[in-house]
Amino acid sequence: MTERNYLWKGFPHILHGGDYNPDQWTGTPQIQEEDMRLMKLANCNEMTLGIFAWAKLEPEEGKFDFSFMDRAMDMIAENGGRVILATPSGARPAWLSQKYPEVLRTNADRTVNLHGRRHNHCFTSPVYRKKTAEINARLAQRYKGHPALLMWHISNEYGGECHCAMCREAFRDWLKRKYKTLDALNEQWWTYFWAHTYTDWSQIEPPSPLGESSTHGLTLDWKRFVTDQTIDFMKNEISVLKEITPDVPVTTNLMGFYQGLDYRKLAKELDAVSWDNYPVWRGNEISDIELASDTALIHDLNRSLLGKPFMMMESTPSHVNWHTYNKLKRPGQHMLSSLQAVAHGSDSVQYFQWRKSRGSSEKFHGAVVDHVGHENTRVFREVAELGKRLGKLDCIVGTTTVSKVALLYDWSNNWAIDDAQGFQRNDKKVMRTIRKHYRPLWRRGINTDVIGFDDDFSKYSLIIAPMIYTVSEELENKISDYVSRGGIILCTYMTGMVNENDLCHLGGFPAGRLKDVFGLWNEEIDTLYPDESNKVYAAGREYKAVDYCEIVHPTSAETIAEYGSDFYSGESAATVNNYGKGRAYYVAFRDEGDFTDTLTEALLKEAGVASEFDGALPNGVTAHSRTDGETIYVFLENYSMQSQSAYTGFTWSTADSGEVINGEISLKPYETLILSRKLTK
Ligand code: GLA
Ligand code: ZN
Repeated sequence: MTERNYLWKGFPHILHGGDYNPDQWTGTPQIQEEDMRLMKLANCNEMTLGIFAWAKLEPEEGKFDFSFMDRAMDMIAENGGRVILATPSGARPAWLSQKYPEVLRTNADRTVNLHGRRHNHCFTSPVYRKKTAEINARLAQRYKGHPALLMWHISNEYGGECHCAMCREAFRDWLKRKYKTLDALNEQWWTYFWAHTYTDWSQIEPPSPLGESSTHGLTLDWKRFVTDQTIDFMKNEISVLKEITPDVPVTTNLMGFYQGLDYRKLAKELDAVSWDNYPVWRGNEISDIELASDTALIHDLNRSLLGKPFMMMESTPSHVNWHTYNKLKRPGQHMLSSLQAVAHGSDSVQYFQWRKSRGSSEKFHGAVVDHVGHENTRVFREVAELGKRLGKLDCIVGTTTVSKVALLYDWSNNWAIDDAQGFQRNDKKVMRTIRKHYRPLWRRGINTDVIGFDDDFSKYSLIIAPMIYTVSEELENKISDYVSRGGIILCTYMTGMVNENDLCHLGGFPAGRLKDVFGLWNEEIDTLYPDESNKVYAAGREYKAVDYCEIVHPTSAETIAEYGSDFYSGESAATVNNYGKGRAYYVAFRDEGDFTDTLTEALLKEAGVASEFDGALPNGVTAHSRTDGETIYVFLENYSMQSQSAYTGFTWSTADSGEVINGEISLKPYETLILSRKLTK
């Protein structure tokens, strides 16, 4: 039986298009005609309309003018395209801020921003909520049933926070709902320290450089509140659209591992997850091969947020204007980096921006149509070529990704670690650690989900959970159940030190039952200077430890690696413990070398997990798969600048050209092959 998960209705194609701003060109209507000609030439089938168009749509309060949008919607529909229509709350007209100053954002230092930029509003303001709901209702009423309308794009890259009096009050209400009593709050935040005990709710202020910044529980709850308040604002935008156009799905564009919002919570309010992808290809810090892995990780995160296909809402067809050095993608890299998104579950390849703006902030940001205005450019040709290929991939739309391995990543956990005073004080490198653990999976072509503490663990054979510092009683039990039923888990230094409110666990780390799961306890952590390292020996090989060496005492665990220097030389650096039907690995140091890679390989073998490609992948080549339950599609991607050959045990046909392929497969530099074969039941 085929199982597909379509993100939108009645258009079973991979979307190819992007941010379209005819609102910037209303004085030159011929540009819009030209856009339609070029859209077809570029093999684009989608335009994202109206993201920052509020000033055009409502030039004066209560006076609306939808003429540019009517025209764009009609023209796109006539040309066979579809529209993702945005709500304009990301940037508001100047008259609105002038007349209603309460919408302006207040910073943590209590200064109030002037009008300007974007994403610069108070998320509590009743006026702003009313105004955004009004304009959204007008858009929905006007374009309800329009043949072009495919989806709603809610606002743009929600982010930031507001510290105005209304937001501060909303925070106190949020705390009252969470803790019920001040005593409970004081206990969890351990406000007994430095006499910070609150005796009235009104004394609580959000963290600020002018006031409190060292009560970690407060900071953590404030970040959670910011997520909840942003979600509340977003729901206010969505509910009016759902009343008028209940069948039109909603999405908002996310920003990868952006630390300002817990996307796992926010995603629950969306019909589809989408994200804006701007990796630094050809960067001077890491290789394109490493970058490909880091980017794949974010694609996997986005897919895992709702456990279904996602969308790449933005990417650049050439370069951006906000990296430190804005390099061009090499010929062929655009095709490869776009298909990478599809390989990991995206059902769209979309751009910022369709046409380069003529002035202002992003006039030198890459676009499909450059200032030159015609199609005779390298970038346009590469976009058109990709569009042609995507046009042959209807078979991929709605297929899902089956993963037996999960990487655990939790926003609150990352916030708490970053805020901890101690260890390497300024940068605990959580993200770098996550990426380090992902790379061995990526290069072996292992589908991986990136899940949170509340997600279902039972479908995975292997869970990799680096630096899970905040462990609630619930999580403790969940890990223990998972392993005792046969799961394999890998945890690291800093596991289970505090509870969900950043209050230390007593009785030794890791928390409670985790000491039995791992068969050890952690007594101390030695933090190394950046230029220091320690030696680690495992199975006759020497490895290198950097940053952290935790000193653990095995109770039932078996030591699989030992420290080679310092006063803890000879003590356990990595262990494994049999627990119930499963196995729990503990890596007590941070590896800078290939210990992680070697161990991951062993764990995959133990868990019986292999790539669907079933064969040997040379360095720089990887393979990720999607399936509808009947056919498996493998994207074989070559991120190196060399021709490569991979070997497969299966016979495949290419999904876009039907060519039969088996045995040794050669790939040109940057080439992606999309292979398919029927699954045998
Ligand atoms: C973000 C925004 C876009 C644009 C691009 C530039 O993702 O959503 O409006 O500014 O960045 O790369
Ligand atoms: Zn506010």
